[in-house]
Amino acid sequence: MSGNALEPPPSTQGAPCEPRPCRLGSLSCCHSKGGPCITCFLFVHRRRPDVITTTDWLAPVIWEGTFNRRVLGKHYRNRNLTMGLAVFAIGRIADQYLERFLESAKKHFMTGYRVVFYITVDDLDKMPDVDPGPLQTFQVFTLREEIWWQDFNLLRMRNLGEHIVQHIQGEVDFLFSMATNQIFQSDVGVETLGASVAQLHAWWYFKSTKDFPYERRRRSAAYIPYGKGDFYYDSAFVGGTPQQVLNLIEEYLKGVLQDKQNGLNSSYENHLNKYFFLNKPTKLLSPEYNWDVTFYPPPQVQFIKVAQHPKRRPWP
Ligand SMILES: *[C@@H]1O[C@H](CO)[C@@H](O)[C@H](O)[C@H]1NC(C)=O
Ligand SMILES: *[C@@H]1O[C@H](CO)[C@@H](O)[C@H](O)[C@H]1NC(C)=O
Repeated sequence: MSGNALEPPPSTQGAPCEPRPCRLGSLSCCHSKGGPCITCFLFVHRRRPDVITTTDWLAPVIWEGTFNRRVLGKHYRNRNLTMGLAVFAIGRIADQYLERFLESAKKHFMTGYRVVFYITVDDLDKMPDVDPGPLQTFQVFTLREEIWWQDFNLLRMRNLGEHIVQHIQGEVDFLFSMATNQIFQSDVGVETLGASVAQLHAWWYFKSTKDFPYERRRRSAAYIPYGKGDFYYDSAFVGGTPQQVLNLIEEYLKGVLQDKQNGLNSSYENHLNKYFFLNKPTKLLSPEYNWDVTFYPPPQVQFIKVAQHPKRRPWP
Protein backbone atom coordinates (compact mmCIF):
# COMPACT_ATOMS: atom_id res chain seq x y z
CA MET A 1 0.00 0.00 0.00
CA SER A 2 2.32 2.70 -1.06
CA GLY A 3 1.60 5.09 -3.69
CA ASN A 4 2.22 7.70 -6.21
CA ALA A 5 -0.75 9.33 -4.58
CA LEU A 6 -1.41 12.97 -5.11
CA GLU A 7 -1.96 15.49 -2.40
CA PRO A 8 -5.58 16.25 -1.64
CA PRO A 9 -6.95 19.51 -2.94
CA PRO A 10 -8.08 21.22 0.25
CA SER A 11 -10.56 23.72 -1.15
CA THR A 12 -13.22 21.23 -2.27
CA GLN A 13 -13.78 19.47 1.03
CA GLY A 14 -17.38 19.37 2.05
CA ALA A 15 -18.44 21.89 -0.57
CA PRO A 16 -21.50 21.10 -2.66
CA CYS A 17 -20.47 20.11 -6.16
CA GLU A 18 -21.54 19.12 -9.62
CA PRO A 19 -21.10 15.46 -10.43
CA ARG A 20 -17.88 14.97 -12.33
CA PRO A 21 -16.40 11.64 -13.29
CA CYS A 22 -13.32 10.47 -11.55
CA ARG A 23 -10.54 9.79 -14.00
CA LEU A 24 -7.17 8.31 -13.57
CA GLY A 25 -4.95 10.68 -11.68
CA SER A 26 -7.48 13.50 -11.76
CA LEU A 27 -8.62 15.57 -8.83
CA SER A 28 -12.27 15.41 -9.78
CA CYS A 29 -15.09 15.01 -7.43
CA CYS A 30 -17.33 12.10 -8.18
CA HIS A 31 -20.48 12.82 -6.29
CA SER A 32 -24.07 13.45 -7.00
CA LYS A 33 -25.16 16.97 -7.74
CA GLY A 34 -25.30 19.12 -4.65
CA GLY A 35 -23.81 16.40 -2.47
CA PRO A 36 -20.64 16.93 -0.51
CA CYS A 37 -17.60 17.07 -2.70
CA ILE A 38 -15.32 14.18 -2.02
CA THR A 39 -12.24 13.80 -4.08
CA CYS A 40 -11.14 10.57 -5.61
CA PHE A 41 -7.60 11.53 -6.34
CA LEU A 42 -6.01 8.60 -4.64
CA PHE A 43 -7.13 5.69 -6.69
CA VAL A 44 -4.12 4.73 -8.59
CA HIS A 45 -5.61 2.29 -11.03
CA ARG A 46 -2.37 1.36 -12.67
CA ARG A 47 -1.34 -0.62 -9.65
CA ARG A 48 -3.84 -3.40 -10.18
CA PRO A 49 -4.02 -4.29 -13.88
CA ASP A 50 -5.35 -7.75 -13.00
CA VAL A 51 -8.73 -6.57 -11.76
CA ILE A 52 -11.49 -4.07 -12.54
CA THR A 53 -10.59 -0.85 -10.73
CA THR A 54 -13.09 1.50 -12.37
CA THR A 55 -16.62 0.77 -13.49
CA ASP A 56 -18.18 1.90 -16.79
CA TRP A 57 -19.78 4.76 -14.89
CA LEU A 58 -16.35 5.65 -13.45
CA ALA A 59 -16.86 4.59 -9.88
CA PRO A 60 -13.68 3.30 -8.24
CA VAL A 61 -13.46 -0.34 -7.19
CA ILE A 62 -11.35 -0.64 -4.07
CA TRP A 63 -8.76 -3.39 -4.05
CA GLU A 64 -5.64 -3.79 -2.03
CA GLY A 65 -3.01 -1.70 -3.80
CA THR A 66 -5.41 0.87 -5.24
CA PHE A 67 -5.31 3.29 -2.35
CA ASN A 68 -3.01 4.76 0.22
CA ARG A 69 -4.78 4.91 3.53
CA ARG A 70 -2.21 7.17 5.12
CA VAL A 71 -2.61 9.84 2.47
CA LEU A 72 -6.38 9.40 2.49
CA GLY A 73 -6.22 9.89 6.25
CA LYS A 74 -4.73 13.34 5.76
CA HIS A 75 -7.74 14.21 3.70
CA TYR A 76 -10.35 12.83 6.06
CA ARG A 77 -8.81 13.36 9.44
CA ASN A 78 -9.63 17.03 9.89
CA ARG A 79 -13.22 16.67 8.70
CA ASN A 80 -14.39 15.48 12.12
CA LEU A 81 -16.30 12.54 10.66
CA THR A 82 -18.42 10.07 12.54
CA MET A 83 -18.96 6.64 11.03
CA GLY A 84 -21.79 4.27 11.87
CA LEU A 85 -21.77 0.51 11.69
CA ALA A 86 -25.09 -1.27 12.03
CA VAL A 87 -25.36 -4.91 12.92
CA PHE A 88 -28.49 -6.93 13.50
CA ALA A 89 -28.05 -9.98 15.68
CA ILE A 90 -31.19 -11.75 16.71
CA GLY A 91 -31.77 -15.28 17.81
CA ARG A 92 -28.87 -17.64 17.47
CA ILE A 93 -26.83 -15.22 15.39
CA ALA A 94 -26.06 -13.24 18.50
CA ASP A 95 -24.76 -16.29 20.35
CA GLN A 96 -22.76 -17.55 17.45
CA TYR A 97 -21.24 -14.47 15.91
CA LEU A 98 -21.79 -11.20 17.70
CA GLU A 99 -18.87 -11.28 20.07
CA ARG A 100 -16.33 -12.08 17.38
CA PHE A 101 -17.85 -9.53 15.08
CA LEU A 102 -17.63 -6.76 17.65
CA GLU A 103 -14.15 -7.71 18.88
CA SER A 104 -12.81 -7.66 15.34
CA ALA A 105 -14.71 -4.52 14.32
CA LYS A 106 -13.42 -2.67 17.37
CA LYS A 107 -9.92 -3.40 16.26
CA HIS A 108 -10.22 -2.87 12.53
CA PHE A 109 -13.20 -0.74 11.52
CA MET A 110 -12.27 2.91 10.92
CA THR A 111 -9.65 3.00 13.62
CA GLY A 112 -8.74 6.53 14.59
CA TYR A 113 -12.21 7.85 13.71
CA ARG A 114 -15.30 8.30 15.79
CA VAL A 115 -17.50 5.25 15.33
CA VAL A 116 -20.99 4.49 16.57
CA PHE A 117 -21.94 0.82 16.55
CA TYR A 118 -25.69 0.32 16.23
CA ILE A 119 -26.33 -3.12 17.61
CA THR A 120 -29.79 -4.65 17.49
CA VAL A 121 -30.48 -7.74 19.55
CA ASP A 122 -33.75 -9.36 20.56
CA ASP A 123 -32.61 -9.79 24.12
CA LEU A 124 -30.19 -7.55 26.03
CA ASP A 125 -28.72 -10.59 27.73
CA LYS A 126 -27.38 -11.59 24.34
CA MET A 127 -25.13 -8.57 24.27
CA PRO A 128 -21.60 -9.94 24.69
CA ASP A 129 -19.24 -8.54 27.24
CA VAL A 130 -17.35 -6.29 24.86
CA ASP A 131 -16.55 -2.67 25.62
CA PRO A 132 -16.17 -0.03 22.95
CA GLY A 133 -12.66 1.21 22.25
CA PRO A 134 -11.52 4.82 22.37
CA LEU A 135 -13.62 7.04 20.04
CA GLN A 136 -16.23 4.27 19.81
CA THR A 137 -19.72 4.09 21.24
CA PHE A 138 -22.17 1.24 21.33
CA GLN A 139 -25.86 1.94 20.96
CA VAL A 140 -27.76 -1.22 21.74
CA PHE A 141 -31.37 -1.69 20.71
CA THR A 142 -33.83 -4.42 21.29
CA LEU A 143 -36.54 -5.46 18.95
CA ARG A 144 -40.06 -5.13 20.19
CA GLU A 145 -41.81 -6.70 17.26
CA GLU A 146 -42.95 -10.23 16.91
CA ILE A 147 -40.06 -11.53 14.91
CA TRP A 148 -40.28 -15.22 14.39
CA TRP A 149 -42.58 -15.39 11.44
CA GLN A 150 -40.99 -12.55 9.54
CA ASP A 151 -38.43 -12.52 6.80
CA PHE A 152 -35.09 -11.83 8.44
CA ASN A 153 -33.83 -9.23 5.98
CA LEU A 154 -37.16 -7.49 5.80
CA LEU A 155 -37.12 -7.13 9.54
CA ARG A 156 -33.47 -6.07 9.58
CA MET A 157 -33.82 -3.44 6.89
CA ARG A 158 -37.11 -2.04 8.08
CA ASN A 159 -35.61 -1.71 11.54
CA LEU A 160 -32.50 0.00 10.23
CA GLY A 161 -34.61 2.38 8.16
CA GLU A 162 -36.56 3.41 11.25
CA HIS A 163 -33.37 4.04 13.19
CA ILE A 164 -31.89 6.08 10.36
CA VAL A 165 -34.94 8.33 10.30
CA GLN A 166 -35.21 8.61 14.07
CA HIS A 167 -31.61 9.36 14.93
CA ILE A 168 -28.81 7.84 12.85
CA GLN A 169 -29.03 10.46 10.09
CA GLY A 170 -28.22 13.15 12.62
CA GLU A 171 -25.43 11.17 14.27
CA VAL A 172 -23.13 9.91 11.55
CA ASP A 173 -21.68 11.05 8.24
CA PHE A 174 -21.36 7.57 6.78
CA LEU A 175 -23.20 4.41 7.66
CA PHE A 176 -22.39 0.79 6.94
CA SER A 177 -24.60 -2.19 7.49
CA MET A 178 -22.96 -5.57 7.82
CA ALA A 179 -23.96 -9.15 8.45
CA THR A 180 -22.99 -10.42 11.88
CA ASN A 181 -21.30 -13.54 10.54
CA GLN A 182 -18.40 -11.47 9.28
CA ILE A 183 -15.01 -11.12 10.91
CA PHE A 184 -12.62 -8.28 10.22
CA GLN A 185 -9.17 -9.67 9.49
CA SER A 186 -7.42 -6.36 8.91
CA ASP A 187 -8.14 -2.66 8.72
CA VAL A 188 -11.17 -1.37 6.87
CA GLY A 189 -10.85 2.36 6.79
CA VAL A 190 -11.65 5.57 4.95
CA GLU A 191 -10.88 4.04 1.54
CA THR A 192 -14.38 2.54 1.77
CA LEU A 193 -16.18 5.86 2.21
CA GLY A 194 -18.52 7.00 -0.49
CA ALA A 195 -22.03 8.33 -1.00
CA SER A 196 -23.29 4.89 -2.02
CA VAL A 197 -21.09 1.86 -1.45
CA ALA A 198 -21.74 -1.64 -2.77
CA GLN A 199 -19.68 -4.75 -2.36
CA LEU A 200 -18.75 -7.21 -5.09
CA HIS A 201 -19.84 -10.71 -4.33
CA ALA A 202 -16.86 -12.97 -3.70
CA TRP A 203 -18.19 -15.79 -5.81
CA TRP A 204 -19.97 -13.99 -8.62
CA TYR A 205 -17.22 -11.48 -9.33
CA PHE A 206 -15.37 -14.27 -11.05
CA LYS A 207 -18.36 -15.49 -13.05
CA SER A 208 -20.06 -14.38 -16.19
CA THR A 209 -22.87 -11.80 -16.00
CA LYS A 210 -25.31 -14.11 -17.76
CA ASP A 211 -25.07 -16.58 -14.90
CA PHE A 212 -25.74 -14.07 -12.12
CA PRO A 213 -28.60 -15.19 -9.90
CA TYR A 214 -30.60 -12.02 -10.47
CA GLU A 215 -34.37 -12.13 -10.22
CA ARG A 216 -35.52 -13.24 -13.68
CA ARG A 217 -39.28 -13.20 -13.21
CA ARG A 218 -40.57 -10.26 -15.19
CA ARG A 219 -43.33 -9.40 -12.79
CA SER A 220 -41.00 -8.97 -9.84
CA ALA A 221 -39.82 -5.51 -8.85
CA ALA A 222 -36.32 -6.99 -8.64
CA TYR A 223 -36.37 -8.20 -12.26
CA ILE A 224 -33.20 -7.76 -14.28
CA PRO A 225 -33.39 -9.13 -17.84
CA TYR A 226 -30.76 -11.49 -19.21
CA GLY A 227 -27.94 -9.54 -20.79
CA LYS A 228 -28.37 -6.65 -18.38
CA GLY A 229 -26.71 -5.91 -15.07
CA ASP A 230 -23.23 -4.80 -14.11
CA PHE A 231 -22.06 -6.86 -11.19
CA TYR A 232 -23.53 -9.14 -8.62
CA TYR A 233 -23.40 -7.36 -5.29
CA ASP A 234 -23.33 -8.99 -1.91
CA SER A 235 -26.02 -7.85 0.48
CA ALA A 236 -23.88 -8.56 3.53
CA PHE A 237 -21.96 -5.28 3.31
CA VAL A 238 -23.46 -1.99 2.12
CA GLY A 239 -22.87 1.59 3.04
CA GLY A 240 -22.94 5.24 2.13
CA THR A 241 -24.43 8.36 3.58
CA PRO A 242 -27.38 7.60 5.86
CA GLN A 243 -29.65 9.16 3.24
CA GLN A 244 -28.40 6.82 0.51
CA VAL A 245 -28.72 3.77 2.73
CA LEU A 246 -32.25 4.90 3.54
CA ASN A 247 -33.05 5.22 -0.17
CA LEU A 248 -31.93 1.66 -0.72
CA ILE A 249 -34.08 0.45 2.16
CA GLU A 250 -37.13 2.37 0.98
CA GLU A 251 -36.83 1.02 -2.55
CA TYR A 252 -36.40 -2.48 -1.20
CA LEU A 253 -39.52 -2.17 0.98
CA LYS A 254 -41.49 -0.80 -1.97
CA GLY A 255 -40.30 -3.68 -4.12
CA VAL A 256 -41.30 -6.24 -1.53
CA LEU A 257 -44.76 -4.72 -1.27
CA GLN A 258 -45.20 -4.64 -5.02
CA ASP A 259 -44.10 -8.25 -5.31
CA LYS A 260 -46.43 -9.28 -2.55
CA GLN A 261 -49.34 -7.74 -4.41
CA ASN A 262 -48.32 -9.85 -7.39
CA GLY A 263 -47.96 -12.97 -5.31
CA LEU A 264 -44.17 -12.99 -5.64
CA ASN A 265 -41.31 -12.98 -3.20
CA SER A 266 -37.79 -12.18 -4.24
CA SER A 267 -34.80 -12.07 -1.92
CA TYR A 268 -33.32 -9.00 -0.32
CA GLU A 269 -30.15 -9.57 -2.31
CA ASN A 270 -32.11 -9.56 -5.57
CA HIS A 271 -33.81 -6.31 -4.63
CA LEU A 272 -30.45 -4.84 -3.65
CA ASN A 273 -28.99 -5.86 -6.98
CA LYS A 274 -31.89 -4.26 -8.81
CA TYR A 275 -31.44 -1.09 -6.75
CA PHE A 276 -27.74 -0.83 -7.60
CA PHE A 277 -28.51 -1.62 -11.23
CA LEU A 278 -30.80 1.41 -11.40
CA ASN A 279 -28.88 3.59 -8.93
CA LYS A 280 -25.23 2.99 -9.63
CA PRO A 281 -23.08 2.93 -6.52
CA THR A 282 -20.40 5.61 -6.30
CA LYS A 283 -17.89 3.19 -4.88
CA LEU A 284 -17.45 -0.57 -5.06
CA LEU A 285 -15.58 -2.73 -2.62
CA SER A 286 -13.70 -5.72 -3.98
CA PRO A 287 -14.37 -9.27 -2.86
CA GLU A 288 -11.50 -8.75 -0.40
CA TYR A 289 -13.98 -6.90 1.78
CA ASN A 290 -16.17 -9.91 2.31
CA TRP A 291 -14.47 -13.13 1.40
CA ASP A 292 -16.38 -16.32 1.90
CA VAL A 293 -13.83 -18.52 3.63
CA THR A 294 -15.10 -21.68 1.97
CA PHE A 295 -13.57 -20.50 -1.31
CA TYR A 296 -9.84 -20.70 -1.78
CA PRO A 297 -8.83 -17.16 -2.77
CA PRO A 298 -7.72 -16.70 -6.39
CA PRO A 299 -4.55 -14.63 -7.07
CA GLN A 300 -6.62 -11.44 -7.46
CA VAL A 301 -7.64 -11.64 -3.83
CA GLN A 302 -4.36 -10.76 -2.20
CA PHE A 303 -5.49 -9.53 1.11
CA ILE A 304 -8.68 -10.55 2.84
CA LYS A 305 -9.98 -7.68 4.94
CA VAL A 306 -13.25 -9.20 6.04
CA ALA A 307 -13.99 -12.90 6.12
CA GLN A 308 -17.48 -14.22 5.99
CA HIS A 309 -18.38 -17.28 7.92
CA PRO A 310 -19.56 -19.89 5.44
CA LYS A 311 -23.05 -20.16 6.83
CA ARG A 312 -24.71 -17.64 4.58
CA ARG A 313 -28.25 -17.99 5.72
CA PRO A 314 -28.99 -16.60 9.14
CA TRP A 315 -31.84 -19.02 9.81
CA PRO A 316 -31.60 -22.79 9.80
C1 LIG B 1 -16.97 17.04 15.93
O1 LIG B 1 -18.13 16.20 15.90
C2 LIG B 1 -18.66 15.95 17.19
C3 LIG B 1 -19.78 14.93 17.03
O2 LIG B 1 -20.59 15.20 15.93
C4 LIG B 1 -19.12 17.24 17.84
O3 LIG B 1 -19.62 16.97 19.12
C5 LIG B 1 -17.94 18.19 17.91
O4 LIG B 1 -18.37 19.41 18.39
C6 LIG B 1 -17.30 18.37 16.55
N1 LIG B 1 -16.09 19.15 16.66
C7 LIG B 1 -15.79 20.15 15.85
C8 LIG B 1 -14.49 20.82 16.09
O5 LIG B 1 -16.54 20.48 14.95
C1 LIG C 1 -40.75 -17.40 -1.02
O1 LIG C 1 -41.88 -18.12 -0.55
C2 LIG C 1 -41.68 -19.51 -0.41
C3 LIG C 1 -42.99 -20.15 -0.07
O2 LIG C 1 -43.67 -19.45 0.94
C4 LIG C 1 -40.59 -19.74 0.62
O3 LIG C 1 -40.35 -21.11 0.79
C5 LIG C 1 -39.32 -19.06 0.19
O4 LIG C 1 -38.33 -19.18 1.16
C6 LIG C 1 -39.59 -17.59 -0.07
N1 LIG C 1 -38.40 -17.00 -0.64
C7 LIG C 1 -37.90 -15.84 -0.20
C8 LIG C 1 -36.70 -15.38 -0.91
O5 LIG C 1 -38.39 -15.21 0.69
